[in-house]
Amino acid sequence: MLLKARDIKKTFPVPGKARKKMVQALGNLEIQQGARIGLMGVSGVGKTTLGLILAGLVRPDSGRVLFHERPIHRLRGAQWKHMRKSIQMVFQHPESAFDPRWKMRKSLEEPFKIHGLPMEKGGLESVLEEMGLPLGVLDRYPSQLSGGELQRAALARALCLKPDLVVLDEPTSMLDPLTQSRILAVIQKSLERRNTACLFITHNLHVAKAVCSQCYVLEGGRLENLF
Ligand SMILES: Nc1ncnc2c1ncn2[C@@H]1O[C@H](COP(=O)(O)OP(=O)(O)OP(=O)(O)O)[C@@H](O)[C@H]1O
Ligand SMILES: [Mg+2]
Repeated sequence: MLLKARDIKKTFPVPGKARKKMVQALGNLEIQQGARIGLMGVSGVGKTTLGLILAGLVRPDSGRVLFHERPIHRLRGAQWKHMRKSIQMVFQHPESAFDPRWKMRKSLEEPFKIHGLPMEKGGLESVLEEMGLPLGVLDRYPSQLSGGELQRAALARALCLKPDLVVLDEPTSMLDPLTQSRILAVIQKSLERRNTACLFITHNLHVAKAVCSQCYVLEGGRLENLF
């Protein structure tokens, strides 16, 4: 099993009420290699929070996330680094997912540097091509890209490390329907080609049905199987 979450809970403070806490129960989930899992639910129910917890980016207050049967938040050193490479996240808001002071080339080369991986000649260019992005974007700042281009760049950055699992947090929500369907096709092709598992967070049932083999709804702190 690639990833297993058990009895995850996360609590956030309620602004202005120091003693009051809002508890988000987020339930149980299992993701196998290559699985396409959808996650739906009304706004504010905790989908992004669950995605961040599964990607090891936020620590739950209680419960366990197991990555290849090992508790994710207890991984250290090389094992932690391996997990961070194997699970990538595409954030909900692409406009704040890149450092505004860096040209896109630097942002897209960064994952290779962090993980000490060699940049194959033309490697970056071929991922951009796969995402349908012109190479010219590499020499621009994030503010000089359109929403669709930024979402494609965020996907390129997440997929270039060939992760085992990618958490896609509403990766097409900001786009017009035509661009949406084009990017969805790109995502599907790319996941299939590499047999990458995904947790696909979306508000759109048609999109969930097109991409996912299984879909959950997060409601009242429980994950219910939708299909
Ligand atoms: N860092 C934080 N500090 C305080 N509250 C937070 C934090 N992150 C999330 N929350 C709260 O937790 C709840 C769940 O937020 P989350 O972003 O996970 O919802 P969501 O299901 O992804 O919503 P949406 O569909 O609007 O993206 C919300 O009420 C939000 O305000
Ligand atoms: Mg969200």
